[in-house]
Amino acid sequence: MIADNVLKNAKAYLNGQIVDCSLALDEGKIHKIGKESQMPNADEKVNLRGLLVLPGLIDVHVHLRDEGKAYKEDFYSGTSAAAAGGFTMVLDMPNNDPVTMSAMSLKNRMAIAQRRVLVNVGFYSELPKNLTEMKDIVAEGALGFKLFMASQVGGLNIDDDAALQEAFREVGELGVPLAVHAEDKTLITATEAKLRQAKKSDTAAFLKAHSEEVELKAIQRVLTLSAETGVRLHFCHISTQEGLNAVAEAKRAGRAVTCEVTPHHLLLSRADMERQGQMLAVLPPLRSKNHIQALWNSLADGVVDVLGSDHAPHTLDEKSSGSIWDVKVGMPGLETSLPLLLTQVRRKQLSLGQVVQLFAENPARIYGLDGRGSLEQGKNADLTIVDFNREFKIDASKFKSKAKFSPFDKWQVVGKPVKTYVNGLLVMDEGEIVAKAGSGKVIRGGGK
Ligand code: DOR
Ligand code: ZN
Ligand code: ZN
Repeated sequence: MIADNVLKNAKAYLNGQIVDCSLALDEGKIHKIGKESQMPNADEKVNLRGLLVLPGLIDVHVHLRDEGKAYKEDFYSGTSAAAAGGFTMVLDMPNNDPVTMSAMSLKNRMAIAQRRVLVNVGFYSELPKNLTEMKDIVAEGALGFKLFMASQVGGLNIDDDAALQEAFREVGELGVPLAVHAEDKTLITATEAKLRQAKKSDTAAFLKAHSEEVELKAIQRVLTLSAETGVRLHFCHISTQEGLNAVAEAKRAGRAVTCEVTPHHLLLSRADMERQGQMLAVLPPLRSKNHIQALWNSLADGVVDVLGSDHAPHTLDEKSSGSIWDVKVGMPGLETSLPLLLTQVRRKQLSLGQVVQLFAENPARIYGLDGRGSLEQGKNADLTIVDFNREFKIDASKFKSKAKFSPFDKWQVVGKPVKTYVNGLLVMDEGEIVAKAGSGKVIRGGGK
């Protein structure tokens, strides 16, 4: 046979080890992994000269925007950022304009995405008001539902315990995960009202309104209401020690619960926000050192299942104008997450194996992406190729994302994604996008 491509002189991450090998890619799949002498002939041969080959990384927490929010990011710019950052698949969050929360809005979104994406993209839906629509949303291909608890985004009334309980039961029956942004709306609203009345609008006020208690309260409420409903919960971006404890306890009790942390919560603190102001406004907010240490401990303990960037692009104007109560929260993360974590690997804060587990293996398992998440013959040829020794300075002005700012701008890092293969196709090469818009796939439930 003649394969499409043979990559030789790779150091590939296979079953927990780095192995010197070659990889033959054919028709979008990994055809063979082995010695160079065992490789079939190929239309194209690439000498990787010892670069590290990781399974294509999957970011389960990305706001690609587009449609009514295309001025912040669109499918092309967002998935260019993904490819540049070493991600071969992202899961798109539903707080769009229109909100993704019906089979129709999902279908439209998928159709637009299919013409423009460069990496594989799966979709979340918010919870609809009418729960009978949920099965149609899953049939359309949603990989999961999202429950945003900090304010009302979806159709389902988040103040209504009984409605939430019903929704949990329905998601449980449908078998997809439910990703939860755990911040208690009632507590946020009450605290914010008091602070506004007292004319407080500094970063301290923002941090008070989004206190540690706000996160814990929402986690506890969800865990209580979802008991015995069969729902699989995935807690997004946990930021506090108490939150982690609640998740760990639920896991010990045998509940179907997973959780995620972000690079910004691991690497930045509330002191950074106090210094730099509302550019660093993100929800949940940055926390103090003891919480950050708890996040690192929970990575080591295995309580944390997933790393997610929570790539949340906005315009510079949206980030810098207005009061703290109106500022758009979040920051782009697709182009900084992997280099930041590889730098931490170098500093022995975590292992390369953990990065692969948290950014590939576990995301694939949790979201049922059977053909992805590890390098094996027969799996999809999604590859993140890294120069582990390349030092560089993060330069937000060069981002592919429309959001050309970052709290990590000018940080010196070591470890750079240099090639991204998606379904066997080279999409990013040395920072440049080399594939056509629409070459990525929309991934519907089942990972097909
Ligand atoms: O910081 C955030 N940004 N947190 C969220 O939950 C939403 C997100 C966004 O969409 O901008
Ligand atoms: Zn969130
Ligand atoms: Zn988010």
